[in-house]
Amino acid sequence: MNGSTGSDLMFPFKMGPFHLSHRVVLAPMTRCRALNTIPQPAHVTYYSQRTTPGGLLITEAVSVGDRGFGFPHSPGIFTDEQIHAWKAVVDAVHARGGIIFCQIWHVGRASHKVYQPNGDSPVSSTSRKISDDWKIQMLGGTLENYSTPRALATSEIKVIVQQFREAARNAMIAGFDGVEIHAGHGYLIDQFMKNKINDRMDEYGGSIENRCRFALEILSAVTEEIGTERTAIRISPVVDHLDALDSDPMALGLYLAAKLNHFGLCYMHLTQPRYNARKVKKEDLPSFHDCHSLMRNAYKGTLMSTGGYTRESGMAAIRNGEADLISYGRLFISNPDLPWRFRLGAVKLNKYDRATFYTHDQVVGYTDYPFLYLEDDKRGRQRSKMISNEGSLCLRSAL
Ligand SMILES: Cc1cc2nc3c(=O)[nH]c(=O)nc-3n(C[C@H](O)[C@H](O)[C@H](O)COP(=O)(O)O)c2cc1C
Repeated sequence: MNGSTGSDLMFPFKMGPFHLSHRVVLAPMTRCRALNTIPQPAHVTYYSQRTTPGGLLITEAVSVGDRGFGFPHSPGIFTDEQIHAWKAVVDAVHARGGIIFCQIWHVGRASHKVYQPNGDSPVSSTSRKISDDWKIQMLGGTLENYSTPRALATSEIKVIVQQFREAARNAMIAGFDGVEIHAGHGYLIDQFMKNKINDRMDEYGGSIENRCRFALEILSAVTEEIGTERTAIRISPVVDHLDALDSDPMALGLYLAAKLNHFGLCYMHLTQPRYNARKVKKEDLPSFHDCHSLMRNAYKGTLMSTGGYTRESGMAAIRNGEADLISYGRLFISNPDLPWRFRLGAVKLNKYDRATFYTHDQVVGYTDYPFLYLEDDKRGRQRSKMISNEGSLCLRSAL
């Protein structure tokens, strides 16, 4: 039973079996700090820094198999070594009282031959490549066009469904509290769902029902493996990232919402159209408000919303009942103690440095953003100042 205990961003919320102490969630973010697909000690620090007792964290996207990579230095969860390394992250988060879900993905055609075994072509629902308007980051930091994919044979699709199942099982072995299936943002599952990408003639192409079959098969496999209460999904019907366009995104969103209602998932994570940065004019998309309220009405479970939220707009979204949980991306990168800052109210936020979002240094731009520290000034008033990362741990644990 999901439910609200008061409507404020900083109020508790019961999400499936989890008692969240507040609604400020760490959004999944690829940060390119893994080594040979293995999470590092820096991951332990990064996720620990962002942990609050009863707070929910979602990991960066983690590949379900060796063809699922499309970023330099991104992690997987399909070998013993990877599972072992993730366990260290999970243990550290649990030791601080946090809850952590693993986001599992396959990038599909959003890749390059250099990231594929034997330099093979990436796989997808289609053999058409992502347009050259979008660029992929290469190992040396340069940007190139995406590679032309190979359309998966029908018989190969089941193999990838199985990889998602095994990744979910591995996440449980690592001790994660649950998994979030990444079905948005133009990656493999979205490449099946969106009709401007999927040009298949088999039972995975054509009608909405066929295009969503892959997503629903993955969902069935994962929920069968680890249970519905530990399974979540991220979708973005109206987000155009990597050419992920559909001729009727709201029909797609509503179809998915209706299907997801039957699963009783832990939560549905919805990326808002205001995250659309590039390709489609805002006026050509359903308005943020229309899209959001349609999805909110259609979906009966816990709804997590993301995309461009501030403290104030997040507060408003919770108060108005638009969402149950808000995930924060960029602000959480630069403010490891974001929930604490939000609780305090009018405190300054660190600015994020976009240039280090996807660089590989284990410290710079990753674990070196300062925490807020409160101390009494000479007149006994509390004032804030910035200090090093370790200094505020005791304060944060008070959240
Ligand atoms: C550096 C970076 C990496 C991201 N990586 C992922 C990812 O791995 N998986 C995912 O679902 N979304 C990813 N996103 C999207 C975020 O989860 C989030 O939806 C987006 O940043 C919008 O939220 P914000 O406005 O609070 O930043 C990424 C965003 C950023 C900035």
